[in-house]
Amino acid sequence: MERTLVILKPDALQRRLIGEIISRFERKGLKVVGLKLAVIPRPLAETHYAVHKEKSFYPSLLQFVTAGPVVLMVLEGNKAIEVVRKLMGKTFGHQAEPGTIRGDFGISSQFNLVHGSDSPESAERELKLFFKPEELLRYPLIDDPWMAE
Ligand code: RTP
Ligand code: MG
Repeated sequence: MERTLVILKPDALQRRLIGEIISRFERKGLKVVGLKLAVIPRPLAETHYAVHKEKSFYPSLLQFVTAGPVVLMVLEGNKAIEVVRKLMGKTFGHQAEPGTIRGDFGISSQFNLVHGSDSPESAERELKLFFKPEELLRYPLIDDPWMAE
């Protein structure tokens, strides 16, 4: 089982889309093992997106993700990292396929509703940035056997 960090970005909250988006992850078979609402402090956003430090969009990206409350989630499941990225769709809403979160609800390049870790290494690093170990819960769900690898 893999774990991945998901952030529902400020536009998702402002547009009242968090229920819809979380529902898609649930229906796919992912398990919510961590969940909270927060405003990301600027230094934490800088660390999280450090890989983009030299990019032209970095300053506006930081401004965007710190602009208001976000939902921070850890999702668990078989191949969770890749599955979440597929459900999200391509980075830009105008390029993302219909049927994906970004493809169905956005048209902007930057304001694209959702973040998901892009590799096992990123997931491990990002989980630790946003969640303490005790905030991640282990619990059985009745359909666990049907969602197994
Ligand atoms: P994320 O990290 O948020 O899951 O998004 P991603 O992997 O699909 O895309 P990434 O290349 O990591 O870019 C991070 C975020 O920066 C904003 N962005 N704006 N205007 C632009 O050219 C541009 N490019 C990227 C987006 O909010 C993107 O999700
Ligand atoms: Mg990324």
